[in-house]
Amino acid sequence: MRIKRAVAITALAAASLAAAQAQQPAPQNPPASPPKPQPQQRSLVPDTFTNLLVLPKDIAKVDLVRIMKSISMTTERRCSFCHVATDDLSQADFASDEKETKRKARELLQFILETQKKPAGAPAAP
Ligand code: HEC
Repeated sequence: MRIKRAVAITALAAASLAAAQAQQPAPQNPPASPPKPQPQQRSLVPDTFTNLLVLPKDIAKVDLVRIMKSISMTTERRCSFCHVATDDLSQADFASDEKETKRKARELLQFILETQKKPAGAPAAP
């Protein structure tokens, strides 16, 4: 009898130990290697603009970039489609009007902005 009891207690102890172990958090994955120091990220778009003929000359950079990004998204073209620039923009001359696509896009932009100024259905000026 004694032995049976001892076996039962041992079994119980082993079971509770196993349960306790199961509750422990899974072993941690080895820590991710520390992030490599990034080279100083230079902003690719200049802070001032020198060749805006349609957009307001004092436009905030954040607004200009937002407009350019939405132009890129809607036309499904990279910045370099209109701008003299490498695809990764590491080299860019955004002010240049060399590309015809940019000049055409400017005409379109002007047309859109003019249309927006006049609310649809507004009475003609007397
Ligand atoms: C479909 C043609 C088109 C695409 C694509 C485009 N742009 Fe432009 N971008 C223009 C036009 C047109 C202007 C000039 C607007 C004006 O004259 O007011 C301009 C002006 C700019 C300027 C101001 C340059 C200056 O100094 O006068 C910057 C900076 C610029 N774009 C950045 C970008 C970036 C960054 C992208 C990509 C996210 C981009 N553009 C994509 C047409 C485009």
